[in-house]
Amino acid sequence: MIIVGGPASNGMDDGISRFLSSTLLKTEYKVFPDGESYIRIPGSVKDKEVVVVQSTFPEQDKRLMELFFLSETLRDMGATKIHAVVPYLAYSRQDRRFLEGEAISVKTVLRMMGQAGISSLTVVEPHHEEEMKYFPGQVRIISPYEDIAVELRKHVTDPFVLAPDRSALSRAERIAKIVGGDFSHIEKVRDKETGKTSIKGAPNVNLKEKDVILIDDVISTGGTMIQAAEFAYSKGAKSVIASACHVLLVEGAKDKLKQVGVEKIVGTNTIKNDPEVITVDISKTVALSL
Ligand code: R5P
Repeated sequence: MIIVGGPASNGMDDGISRFLSSTLLKTEYKVFPDGESYIRIPGSVKDKEVVVVQSTFPEQDKRLMELFFLSETLRDMGATKIHAVVPYLAYSRQDRRFLEGEAISVKTVLRMMGQAGISSLTVVEPHHEEEMKYFPGQVRIISPYEDIAVELRKHVTDPFVLAPDRSALSRAERIAKIVGGDFSHIEKVRDKETGKTSIKGAPNVNLKEKDVILIDDVISTGGTMIQAAEFAYSKGAKSVIASACHVLLVEGAKDKLKQVGVEKIVGTNTIKNDPEVITVDISKTVALSL
């Protein structure tokens, strides 16, 4: 098996090739003056199974095009099977049609991966597992929460793990099993007129003097975490850590999180993180699943 590291492999290609003791080919990559991408795979893959590693964090469309170029080229070069590791799956949150005429973007993205010659796909924590049905091949889904919990354990003395909404409760439970302490989730209510959500409370929580760990799948604008951190401090928390699998931090989220007292942000290397984010390397977990 040969590992091919794409321009957005973010070091996960090195980790995977190390853990699997496989040859690593690093893609040659440049951007032409007009913004178009150039890709070259510098080595032979003829009659070999290939694992191509390429995340699709911002700029998502560029990262996706690079992945399509890589897959098609590997097929042209005679690879027998192309397996893609896409640690962060772009468009994962656009997985349903709320208004008539809206694109189900992740459906198009997953179908295009199949068209480009990818026959099996590994993704870390997609937004909803059901959306992976749109990929026309075998799918593996990686959960990063045990790895994240091992890191979080180093940063807390009296933890309480809090999910920012009910759908994230199972994540909080998994983290609490390793970190210790209790876990719960925040209850939200939606204003029928404005559509805005606000926090109603959290069942069975005593956050007084606790090191509160917030856990979610994604931190994007930080809005969800900011609300949850404010809630935790209003209930007497001693400290708050914001953690997630994919830490995008768009629209000044890092500073906004600091402003509400979030002491640390913990994420994984599915994304090229801001240097202040404590980054958990999940390459080994991904490699062992292949
Ligand atoms: C929502 O369903 C997700 O699980 C996240 O809570 C959300 O996408 C985070 O986005 P933001 O950081 O912009 O609040």
